[in-house]
Amino acid sequence: MSERISMHGQWSSRLMFILAATGSAVGLGNIWKFPYIAGENGGGAFVLIYLLCIALIGIPIMMSEVLIGRRGRQSPINTLCTLARESGKASSWRVVGALGILAAFIIVSYYGVIAGWALAYIVRMASGIFTGVTAEGAASIFRGLVADPERLLAWHTIFMVMTTVLVARGVRPGLEQAIKVLMPALFVLLLILLVFAGTTGKFEEGVRFLFNPDFGAISVGGILIAMGHSFFTLSLGVGAIMMYGSYLPDGISIAKVSIAIALVDTLVALLSGLAIFPIVFATGMTADVGPGLIFQTLPIAFGQIPGGDFFGTLFFVLLVFAAWTSSISLVEPLVAWLVENKGFERSRAATRVGVCTWLLGIVTIMSFSSWSFQFSFGGETKNNGLFDVMDIMTSTFLLPLGGLAIALFAGRVMSRSSVVDELGGKDGFSFKLWYFVIRYITPAAFVAIFINRLFP
Ligand code: TRP
Repeated sequence: MSERISMHGQWSSRLMFILAATGSAVGLGNIWKFPYIAGENGGGAFVLIYLLCIALIGIPIMMSEVLIGRRGRQSPINTLCTLARESGKASSWRVVGALGILAAFIIVSYYGVIAGWALAYIVRMASGIFTGVTAEGAASIFRGLVADPERLLAWHTIFMVMTTVLVARGVRPGLEQAIKVLMPALFVLLLILLVFAGTTGKFEEGVRFLFNPDFGAISVGGILIAMGHSFFTLSLGVGAIMMYGSYLPDGISIAKVSIAIALVDTLVALLSGLAIFPIVFATGMTADVGPGLIFQTLPIAFGQIPGGDFFGTLFFVLLVFAAWTSSISLVEPLVAWLVENKGFERSRAATRVGVCTWLLGIVTIMSFSSWSFQFSFGGETKNNGLFDVMDIMTSTFLLPLGGLAIALFAGRVMSRSSVVDELGGKDGFSFKLWYFVIRYITPAAFVAIFINRLFP
């Protein structure tokens, strides 16, 4: 068979795919979101469920997304439509692709705002205002930032321009070089923070909080949030990884790369949690302060370690970079679809999408000041109005539903032989195990969790 290649390009190697997909997976979800939702949902039990979801649902679905993408070699909407027709099923499966694009669109709009906070912190760190800062000082600097919509808009704009420029350029080797250097650097900085956390005297308390499951502390809503986050953090359920899979050369083991990506992603999230919670306990903060958590804790650490201004600045630079390599994967499916179906130039498609997501971002910006309102979800009080609504709607509902549809697609719509073929041609034990999981276990887990939520 001659090699099939996507019209949008192809990764130069297996390593390039791993780097790009890891770049997509590792982002604000690991360093900003995981700690604050773990904190809001009582720690240990939440973390355990999150880890189980990564292993039992996340990795099998990631494999499904990659294989569907590589088989179809188009944007998710067209891939799902073509593959469904090929197996004699309804082309309306394309709706799954469309819903994914909608979810990704909403996510990137708030993702850009939070990445903007990280951009703002690069400047604050470099200015030295955090030297010797107290918990109250750090909290008030954070509150000052989010209460200032004009500033947030400026940073959000810069981030969305960065994203648009990178997406307009397409699959490029430059990205490979950058990810290769900057990801390990981020990792090293997290290790430095971990060493600091070890000096706070509260390290054990932090470890206990994260790894000692107390099932009384988690609500049914918390279980849903943990499951939703396993999708968010692995970039699943919207077609982002499917899109990246469509650029993957034939003949590369999908199982191995998926496991590798999930492992790195999980490690980064756990390191981040381990660096943050000892600071929370050492300063007498509460774990459930919400989206400001890393911005109110890490500056305290950097304010105390030698060379902290430098390391802190570098940390936020790397965090922005991690967010950047994630946000491009959120826009990619929509941009590819506009190129395929509307005949847009890549750069024009990227610009349009960039402008629309930028506009929606304003809703998130205002959610932290004049438009904020409270509501309760799954037993937790949410303080940031429409931002929380958009986050819950996407992470907790749309992503898991998208993931379920993808599992059903790989497990029940595509023919068994084409799935075997994509996964390396061997119908052995590991294939059978994976196939069983996505055909039975994943759908059953969804049904159980959702029914539990609807009829508690
Ligand atoms: N996984 C990224 C993070 O953890 C965010 C992200 C990128 C994402 N692409 C996605 C989330 C697709 C959901 C779907 O920061």
